[in-house]
Parts: sequence; structure tokens; C-alpha cells
Amino acid sequence: MKKTIFCIALLINAIYTNAQHIAAKNSIDKRVDALLAKMTLDEKIGQMTQVTLDVVLKTANGKAIQPEQIDADKIKNAIEKYHVGSILNVSGAAYTREHWHQIISDIQAEAGQSRLKIPVLYGIDAMHGQNYVQGSTLFPQEIGMSATFNPELAYREAQITAYETRASYIPWDFSPVLDLGRNALWPRIYETFGEDPYLAKTMGAAVIKGYQGNDVSSKYNVAGCMKHYLGYSFPLDGKDRTPAWIPDRYMREYFLPSFAEAVKAGAMSVMVNSSEINGVPVHSSKYLLTDVLRGELGFKGVIVTDWQDIKYLHDRHHIAATQKDAVLIAINAGIDMSMVPTDYTFYDLLEQLVKEGKVPVSRIDESVRRILTMKYKLGLFERPVGNPDDYPKFGSAEFTAASLKSATESITLLKNNNNILPLKKDIKVLVTGPAANTMRSLNGGWSYTWQGDFSDQYAADKNTILEAIRHKIGKDNVAYEAGASFDSLQNIEAAVSAAKKADVIVLCLGEHSYAENPGNIDDLNLPSAQTELANELAKTGKPIILVMAEGRPRIITEVESKSAATIMTYLSGNEGGNALADILFGDANPSGRLPVTYPRYPNALVNYYRKNIENGNSDDKNGYNPLYEFGYGLSYTTFAYSNLHISKPTLKDGEALTVTVDVKNTGAREGKESVLLYTREEYASITPDTKRLRAFQKIDLQPGESRTVSFKITPKDIAFVNDVSKTVTEAGEFKIMIGDLTSSFNYVSSVAPSRTGKL
Ligand code: BGC
Repeated sequence: MKKTIFCIALLINAIYTNAQHIAAKNSIDKRVDALLAKMTLDEKIGQMTQVTLDVVLKTANGKAIQPEQIDADKIKNAIEKYHVGSILNVSGAAYTREHWHQIISDIQAEAGQSRLKIPVLYGIDAMHGQNYVQGSTLFPQEIGMSATFNPELAYREAQITAYETRASYIPWDFSPVLDLGRNALWPRIYETFGEDPYLAKTMGAAVIKGYQGNDVSSKYNVAGCMKHYLGYSFPLDGKDRTPAWIPDRYMREYFLPSFAEAVKAGAMSVMVNSSEINGVPVHSSKYLLTDVLRGELGFKGVIVTDWQDIKYLHDRHHIAATQKDAVLIAINAGIDMSMVPTDYTFYDLLEQLVKEGKVPVSRIDESVRRILTMKYKLGLFERPVGNPDDYPKFGSAEFTAASLKSATESITLLKNNNNILPLKKDIKVLVTGPAANTMRSLNGGWSYTWQGDFSDQYAADKNTILEAIRHKIGKDNVAYEAGASFDSLQNIEAAVSAAKKADVIVLCLGEHSYAENPGNIDDLNLPSAQTELANELAKTGKPIILVMAEGRPRIITEVESKSAATIMTYLSGNEGGNALADILFGDANPSGRLPVTYPRYPNALVNYYRKNIENGNSDDKNGYNPLYEFGYGLSYTTFAYSNLHISKPTLKDGEALTVTVDVKNTGAREGKESVLLYTREEYASITPDTKRLRAFQKIDLQPGESRTVSFKITPKDIAFVNDVSKTVTEAGEFKIMIGDLTSSFNYVSSVAPSRTGKL
């Protein structure tokens, strides 16, 4: 009875909330119509124009004066003359909350004096926390959040990021990155949720929901921005913003699902891929921006360009003979807002194009309607600047604890020979390697500054790996010698002689911080100085605990062969040092799993879902043989899988299978386990993948405890994109794989193979 009353109450609440949403939407539509009717062409084009903060800052000798201040004449020019609708970014460094308050207040004050008083939409790259404000809570980068295999943590991270972004008076976050991280060379791998479409779409949708909440006008929510639509992450040569070649069906199979899911989750905006696919710059692709994104996925929000990308249609891509053609092409493709961002050329050129009749006013109205709708939804007309006192939890212990939890669940134990880990606390440790004593290798790029190069100053109160270990077992037990920088040797002898006096070597290798193009590499191998340091240390015979702090899986095969234990920390944020020390010394049990394949060789960069032909056979050397496979990760306890059961042998349309498996903690301590369900279709009209992740659940088990984990599989979950770009499920035998268990079922379709399926 109680349950029934509860269900009825839930239903009434859902109907009521839905009715409220419809009423709010109608009222926003009316307000947008009324405002649009009053706007001049200039005012409309201004709304579509986004400039960077530097454009409106006071300068001396061509540089923003410190501390940065809004220049009264420049902001007047931007708002009064050009009617600018949006401003982005930060100039050089992270500001205090007070400083942000001043900057945003000055901007909105000017907007408040304009004829129609339309507030400015301020946007920022808050990628792993509000990384451009001092004292904020920095989480693991997306690659680490994905390694937790825990969407609840991603949701919480996004909630906290939204809170701290609004606490810096900014309502729009250019995040999450939904690009599939499947080319290990690409310098933005760490910004992604890794190589698997299902994992990426699950984590991405959780982040969108965490940012936007149920009511995005709330002072604690922000608009999310899916990026970088579409296919940005798969450049052939692995370098940032270089050409990708992606057939349509392949695009839909692997790269589109994370965006499709985020659209379903209500994502309010999207940023476009700066590069080109199959020779077509995405900023010029009506097919991708309008037909697929709006037509097929039903996206209703704002499409913003990436940095200067309309200009680049002329300057870099050479598909527009003039800047004016570039604007025409991009607007016709479906762009709503141009991140110009350093001048007003877009505004001038678009105005000319409308006056010449080349762009209809109706096309302008469409975009402005979307932008105004977003501003109303965000509550900017009511509250252009937030109230400083509304954010008592900014940088709080509660938020720090959430970051620590995420970092702890992300860190991935890859090797633990003879259970050398966890270490005892009464031993002598040498901490060494270039990543050992810098916050830059914990936070990566997009941390306080674009390149993350000032993390040691801004996060001076946070613990590097060395500091965290010293806190954990006492300074006297911990020696430190860097031994090498990231790419050159530095007093290697001192490191070797310190190693001889230690019981264990904690060797911290990896990468310095970088973002975008400056992170390009020609060689995936770890720089030789780091390998040499490892080799010299190994000669001491002391056990090496190898810690990899890096944004992408650099090749470590030689180094790793010398380690007794290997731990991947990714870029685990401001609490990464503490989380690692907890794991090293047994105060936490690792539960992260690799969200990317860790390659063994630089020229064997194959993703785990690989085709059967990539598995090789006895007479060739095609064999898939990574150092560690996607989904791999150890614990200090052990788990046994048994009783894999499928509810029936045959799946039909309109039905679902229930798959259950028993998981038991067979070790001596509590542990978290990510239970991953993969399927394989044995034969299909398009060569099937060897395996694909279709579902996962993370559970927590006490020693000796057992749990039955249950999954539902529908025909849609095992579909693929066929030769005519349609999503279909073909009849045949499917294998289910969980842990070391397998079982099979048949899918029998009652309809002829569909050629009209939808994503
Ligand atoms: C990046 C985007 C970012 C934008 C604004 C671009 O260079 O590709 O990810 O949102 O800059 O900072």
C-alpha cells in the first residue's frame, strides 16, 4: 500500500514538473518573440558575435595591465556599437572570485545600459572543475573520471564544477569533451572519456545532467557545451587540428553516440570541431551541423564555433577565397555564434551579407532565437551577476573530499608482483622521477592557465606525490631526488645512490602539462631520459613502483618490464597526490580501470574493440597485443565471477534479456569492482568488432560478500551501423562476456533487416 501511494506521489510530481517545464518553455518562447521583434539587424548580429576577454581589457604596451580591468571605452564599443552577445575566456591567469565578480559586473553593467538590456553570455573552459578561478576544486581530468567507471562521481564532479563556475559569476561551461579518445598520440586524449563509445556516452550524459540539473536557471547550474562536434579526436597523424578521414558509417558507429546521448540528456550548446573530415572542414558542413545534428539528433540549442574557426575556413582550410565567403559558408552550414574572437570582422561581414541578400534575415532570426532562449533559460535577465554570498561551499572540505574520492577511484593498478603493494608505512622510500614533485603532472593543461604551467604556484597548498608520501609516512622515511626532468637527465647518480639506501623506489614518470597544439608529439615513446633513469635505478636491484602521471599512454614497455608494480594516475587533479599515497600505503584499495588501451609498441595503436582480422593468427603477426587492455585494473582484494546466466536463449524484437552474474569478494579486504559486460556478434554484414562494452556496474563488496549483478540487454543495445549508415540489429549468434565467463544467445528478428533504423 505504502509503495502504491509512493508511486502515485511520484507520478503526480512528474506530471506537475512536466507541466511546469511546458509553462516555463511557453513563457520563454513568448519573451524571446517579443524581444526579437524589437531588435534591429545590428543588434541581432551582435548576439551571434563572441569576443575574447582581452578585446575589452585595459592594456599598456599592447598587453593587458595587471590585475586585469575592463576598459570602459572598449566595453562600450563592444556593447553599444557591436551589440556583442557573448564574451569568453580569461586573460592569462586564474582570477580570484572577487576579481571575477568585478570583471563580470563591469560587463553586465554596460549591457544593462544598452537599449534592450540584453545580458552578455559569458563562457569559460571549466574542464575539470572551475579551473580558471583561484581556490576552486580541481578534479581528475575526464580520462581519470572515466577510469572510475562510476557515472555518479562524474555527475557529482559536474555539479561541483557548475556550483563553482556560477560562484565565479559565469553561466556557461565549454565542457564536456565528448570526442572519442582513441588515437593515443592526440594531445587532447586526457580531455576525453577514453576510447569506448558506451563509456563515453554514459559519462558524458552524467556530466551534462550534473551541470544543468533540473533547473538550469538555478544559481548552482550552468549550461553545458558538448565538444568538439564531430570527429575531432581522430586525426590521421595524431596531431591537433589535422585532417581526419572517417567514413559516414564509422562516424555514426563510434563518434556520434556520445553526442546523441548528450543531446538526449538536454545539452544546451555544442562547439564545433576545428578540423576537417574527408576534406570538409566541419565548420562548413551543413550535413553534419544541420542535417545530422539538428535533423537527426533533434538538437535545439546553440552551435558555437571553436576559436577563430570561421576565419580559418579562409586562412587555413582554403575552402573560402575571402573572409566574407567564410562567413557565408559557416552561417549556411548552421553556425549560430562565432567565437571570432579577437575583433569584429564577423559582425561587419555578416551584416554586409544580409544587406546584399546573401543571408536571409530568417536565418539570422533562427540563431538569435536560440541564443536568447539560452540566456532566458539561464536566468540571466533576472540575475546577470550572481550574489557573492550564495556560495559558501566554494573550495570547501566537502568538495575537496569529492575530488579525493574521484581521484582514488580513478587511479589504476596495472601490476602488483607478489603483492608488493600496499607498502608498509615503516620503510625507507626513495621518491624520484620528473613527475614526483610537481602539480603540473597531476593537473595537466586547462589548470589555472591554458597550458597548466602555473599549477605549482596556484596549487602550492596542495600535495604533490612527494609531499603526500612524506605526510603519509613521515619526512624522515622519504628521500627525494628528481633524477631526470621530463626530457633530460639531472644528476642521475644522486638518484641511484639514494636508491641504494632505500627499501623501495617510487619512480614517477610521465608528462608535463600541455593543452592542444603545444602537446603535439612525434614519438609516443616515453622520452629516453626517463627510460634511462628507470634502467639505472633498476640496476640497484631495489623494487620499483612505477607511477605513470600522464595525459596519454606513452610507450613504457621497456621501463615497465623493470617494475615490481605499476600504477596509472592519469591526470588526477589537486587531490591526486593524496589519493596515490592512500593507495600506495593501503589506506585505500584501488578500483580504477583503463578507459583506453595501453599500447605495447608505438606502431601498434589498436583499440580494444578491434576487428577479428586484427587479432592475427598462427601465420601472421597482426596479433592484437597491447601492454594492457581497455578495462584492465587490479585491486588489493580478489573477485570471483560465477553463474553467468542469460534469462533465455533467444532474444526477439520488443524483448529484453536479463543477464545475471554472481561476483564474490574472495580476498581479505573491502573492494570496489567494475563489472563490465561485453558482447560479440559472431557474424554480421559489416565485419563485427571483436568485443564491445554494452553495460557496466560498479559495486562495493566486503570480504566474503557476494552479489548478483543484473543487466538488461535489448536488441538496440547490440545494434551496429550498416553499409547504408543505418543502425540495425542483425539476426545471429551473440556472445556475452563478463569477467572470465562467457555465454551465448541468439537474436531472431521478426522483421526484415531494417534500413531505416535511427540512432
Ligand atoms: C579549444 C576549445 C576551447 C576554446 C575556448 C579552443 O582552442 O579547442 O576546446 O573551448 O579554445 O577556449
